[in-house]
Amino acid sequence: METITISQAPQHVGETVKIGVWLTDKRSSGKIAFLQLRDGTGFFQGIIRKNDIDEAKFDSAKHDLHQETSFWVTGEIAEDKRSKFGYEIHIKDFEIVSESEDYPIGNKEHGIEFLLDHRHLWLRSRKPWALMRIRSRVKLATMEFFDKHGFTQFDAPILTSSAPEGTTELFDVKYFDTDAYLSQSGQLYGEAGAMALGKIYTMGPTFRAEKSKTRRHMTEFWMIEPEMAWMHQDESLKIQEQYVAYLVQDLIDHCTQELEMVGRSVESLKPFTELPYPRITYKKAIEMLQEGGFDSKYGDDFGSPEETYLADQFNKPVFIMNYPRAIKAFYMPTDPEDDRQVICADLLAPEGYGEIIGGSERSYDYEYITNKLEENGLSKEDYGWYDDLRKFGSVPHSGFGMGLERFLSWITLQEHIRENIPFPRMINRLRP
Ligand code: 4AD
Ligand code: MG
Repeated sequence: METITISQAPQHVGETVKIGVWLTDKRSSGKIAFLQLRDGTGFFQGIIRKNDIDEAKFDSAKHDLHQETSFWVTGEIAEDKRSKFGYEIHIKDFEIVSESEDYPIGNKEHGIEFLLDHRHLWLRSRKPWALMRIRSRVKLATMEFFDKHGFTQFDAPILTSSAPEGTTELFDVKYFDTDAYLSQSGQLYGEAGAMALGKIYTMGPTFRAEKSKTRRHMTEFWMIEPEMAWMHQDESLKIQEQYVAYLVQDLIDHCTQELEMVGRSVESLKPFTELPYPRITYKKAIEMLQEGGFDSKYGDDFGSPEETYLADQFNKPVFIMNYPRAIKAFYMPTDPEDDRQVICADLLAPEGYGEIIGGSERSYDYEYITNKLEENGLSKEDYGWYDDLRKFGSVPHSGFGMGLERFLSWITLQEHIRENIPFPRMINRLRP
């Protein structure tokens, strides 16, 4: 007899097979028991009929199987037209592997803090299961997309002596007899990579000591950061929109079931695969906000209400280009059309999900970068190497960073990005 997984059930209709499962729920009457089962690859129903199994076993199914009890089932795979998955197992025998009594997460509503405290168990539930599968798929599709476009995957260090996105949100760690910081962004190292390999992307965890308690901020989040030599903003924006559209299409193609489980219809995603995405300037955005009744003025950064309003005007992801220098990072070059501004763009997701990508051109002028480092109090000792990139054959280059959980929370319509990472880290949460 073959041992299979739930996901393989469609290929085994009419066969007697063995599957290792956990119980998620059960319902029984005098002659029949319905067991809701999961095995990691999927969810389906097992049916035990009193006539098909010896009496002691039937009683045991009713009394000994609890939520999250693990056991082997043996039975015949059958079609099940009433369920979404379409298959079930008619159980002939089972063998308990480990008991589970008083499992804390019931099939009822729990408060979010309770669920987060039990994240190690909550991951077994249907929605987290679907969200983790979608996350995994997006990382795979990311690798495929950048590979197809000639990028090399490149790893930036996590322990650093530098702070690319400003010094206020750094986690410092003891590093022997000196200090180190957890990386806020792999970008500066990515720039070195681009000068060596042309087009690279990093994909890894980044850290920010964000004191803000918003539904879009975590202290540890994953970023995908492409960096491209010989590239200006226009071409970079094209890659960004192609990348986002590729991810959306890939999920439509591979994660229909998971998307449905989290309440995101495939139909509602289709418009986001159509390119190009609209582009407006920061100045235009300020005008639109003013027309929309906001008291925004030139120089302001956008908060969540402003981002939501702007994105709502388009119903598609929208690029906001060329922000004032004062609210952006030191490495961005001056906008030739207005020297108060820099050449950069943020991509705002529709449906109220805010900024998912931040990117820019990088100044490739040695003097400019040297001055900016000095102005920002960034030392030669820590950043001399970054200066070197401008000293030896500097070229125009651009890059961007997409927050993985920001993208995912938009696609999966999650209220808070913490549900899109296995073990979220936030200002008040370091456990489990
Ligand atoms: O806009 P940010 O700060 O840009 C950078 O770090 C650049 N160095 C990226 C680059 O050009 N290589 O962050 C980029 C993205 C944001 O658009 C957002 O999606 C996400 O990272 N992000 C966060 N996600 C979750 N929690 C936080 N605290 C985040 N901060 C930024
Ligand atoms: Mg940003």
